Amino acid sequence: MVTSSAPGKVYLFGEHAVVYGEPAVPCAIEKRARVTAREIDEGLRVHVDDLTLDGYTVEYSDGDGHPDLEVDESLVRAGVGYINEAVSQAREVADRPDAGFEIVVESDIPLGAGLGSSAAVVVAAIDAATRELGVELTPEEIADRAYQVEYEVQDGQASRADTFCSAMGGAVRVEGDDCRRIEGVGTLPFVIGYDGGAGDTGELVAGVRQLREEYEFAADTVGAIGDIVREGESVLGTDDYEALGELLNFNHGLLAALGVSSRSLDAMVWAAREGGAAGAKLTGAGGGGCIVALDETDGALTALRYTPGCEDAFRAELDTDGVRRE
Ligand code: PMV
Repeated sequence: MVTSSAPGKVYLFGEHAVVYGEPAVPCAIEKRARVTAREIDEGLRVHVDDLTLDGYTVEYSDGDGHPDLEVDESLVRAGVGYINEAVSQAREVADRPDAGFEIVVESDIPLGAGLGSSAAVVVAAIDAATRELGVELTPEEIADRAYQVEYEVQDGQASRADTFCSAMGGAVRVEGDDCRRIEGVGTLPFVIGYDGGAGDTGELVAGVRQLREEYEFAADTVGAIGDIVREGESVLGTDDYEALGELLNFNHGLLAALGVSSRSLDAMVWAAREGGAAGAKLTGAGGGGCIVALDETDGALTALRYTPGCEDAFRAELDTDGVRRE
C-alpha cells in the first residue's frame, strides 16, 4: 500500500493571458490531495472522502460494473474518470495492463474552485499507483502523464499549468508547453477567499477571446497582463510583498476589464485589501470561485470572514514540495 500527496495551486499572475502565449505563474499551496493505492486482484475500487462531497464510495470493475452512487452522479463520474485514467497511466508505465487497484482519495482542496483539485488528485494517484507497482517516476514524468489524463478527461481543454505546478511544487512559470520551476522564491503568505461557487471556464475563455478579436485595446490588455507577469518574476526572488501586491492589484484590474471578475470576487478582493493585504486578485478562470491575497498579518483573513458572499477563507502558504510519498 502506498500513499502519495500533491498540492493544489493559485495563479499568482497570468491566467487567461496564458491562453494566448503569454507567461503565467501558478504557485503550489499548502492544501493537498492524498491518494492511497493498494493492489488488488482485479478491477478498480475508489473511495473518496472530500471536504466538499459528503464522502462516497464507488465500486466498479472496468467492464460492466455500475457505480453505486450516493451523491451527484456527474461529480462522481468526473472524479472516477480522473482516477480511471490515472490508473491506466500506472498500468501502462509498469506494463501491467490487468493490475487491479483499491484507491482512497482524501483532499483538503475545495472541488471545482480553481485551486487545482483535480490535478492534485491525478498527480498523487499516478505517483501512488506506479509506486505500488514498483516503478518510480520523476516529478517531470508524472507532470507529463497527469497532463495527458486531464487532456483526455477534459476533452482537450487542459493546460499544463495545474498538473506541472502540482507535481513540481513551488512557484512555476508556464509559457505554452515550456514549463519550469522558478527557483529562489521565499515564503509567500497567501490568504484565499472562496465564494462557494465556480465560473464556467469554457465560457469565460470564449468571452476573453471575443473581446480580444473585437478590440485592439482588449488585445493590448492581454499583452499588458504578460508584462505584469514578466515584472512579477523579477520581484518574486525578493520578499518585497508591497511590490508584488501592487502587481496583483494591477492584474486583477485587467482581468476585471476583460470581464472575468464578479461581484463576489470583487467584494472579496476589496475586503482583503481593506483588511491590510499587500494586494489581491481573483485566481483561475474567474466568474466566481477564489481570490488570492498576500498578507502576513491576520487582517485580510479576518476581513474576508466578515464579508458577505465569502463562504470560506483560509491561509495557505506557498508549498515548495510537489508530489511526495507520505
Ligand atoms: O480555473 P483554473 O484554475 O482551471 O484556471 C483556468 C486558467 C485559464 O487561463 C483561464 C484557462 C487555461 O486553461 O489556462
